[in-house]
Amino acid sequence: MPELTIRLLETPEDIAAVERLQSLVWPGSDIEIVPAHVLLTATHNGGLVIGAFLDDELVGFVFGFPGLEFVPDGPRPKHCSHMMGVHPGHRSLGVGYALKRAQWQMVRHQGLDHVTWTYDPLLSRNAHLNISRLGAVCNFYRRSEYGELRDGLNAGLPTDRFQVDWWINSQRVARRMGERAHHSFGLDHFIQAGVQGLYPVQTGPGGLPRPPEHFSPPGGRLVLAEIPSDFHDIKAKDFPLARDWRFFCREVFENLFAAGYLVTDFVYDRSGNAPRSLYVLTHGEATLEE
Ligand SMILES: CC(C)(COP(=O)(O)OP(=O)(O)OC[C@H]1O[C@@H](n2cnc3c(N)ncnc32)[C@H](O)[C@@H]1OP(=O)(O)O)[C@@H](O)C(=O)NCCC(=O)NCCS
Repeated sequence: MPELTIRLLETPEDIAAVERLQSLVWPGSDIEIVPAHVLLTATHNGGLVIGAFLDDELVGFVFGFPGLEFVPDGPRPKHCSHMMGVHPGHRSLGVGYALKRAQWQMVRHQGLDHVTWTYDPLLSRNAHLNISRLGAVCNFYRRSEYGELRDGLNAGLPTDRFQVDWWINSQRVARRMGERAHHSFGLDHFIQAGVQGLYPVQTGPGGLPRPPEHFSPPGGRLVLAEIPSDFHDIKAKDFPLARDWRFFCREVFENLFAAGYLVTDFVYDRSGNAPRSLYVLTHGEATLEE
């Protein structure tokens, strides 16, 4: 297995490789990729394009730039992480985690303490990486964030997103960035702790998971909200069902966030016949970890 090398990308040659990789990760629409001139301008102005190489092949990148958030005291600097992509043939091997770890080190070096980004809350792999492995938290649901996207991963569905907060100087994140860190609580752990599952997910025709008609807002301090483990598969096999999941997920998380819940963890449980994917939400300060 060749060794993974992570480094900053700043030359026109390196950035052209990022353009090509984006077209592979988001196929079908060249309009949806960030062009080289924008990436280069960003890198000359505090932005970070970080690449992951196996031998000499670029297999992943993450791109972000400094931004401002508007808090009651006025504008505050942060890093806005805009895109991460890993070559389809090299996913689930730790490349995404290694890229975010490098971003964590570099953004801290720039003196910032907050990184935000958005992702589709129905993508279990992204959720596992962002929430469980990296220690990001979320209480911000953004409806139709990008309007209509035309690339192969997003076409036809409202582009609802979670906006996550990654507090890169916190102990929570430092623990998950440690060399030996591999944080995970199994589903059993939460069930034994009496955590409330918010709704049942039934299996429908074709063996695909179906959302319930409605969900009732919870009363507990620690709750579990289940999503499909493979949303891309549902999109490919039953598009109306994928839309049902989008609107159900919107209802659940808009309600939970309005009621004061925060996504603090994610469970990807592979112990049963079929994998299960569940967000862990806490009300107030309650977590199993602290
Ligand atoms: C999201 C993406 C960047 C992640 O990169 P990656 O290299 O696959 O990420 P990693 O391997 O570091 O982490 C993925 C984790 O999810 C796990 N995983 C795999 N399938 C999963 C699933 N269905 N549900 C939950 N977790 C899953 C992997 O085992 C791994 O966890 P582990 O390290 O604990 O074993 C990559 O999948 C990708 O390019 N996706 C398409 C573009 C995209 O969605 N970009 C992000 C938004 S801009």
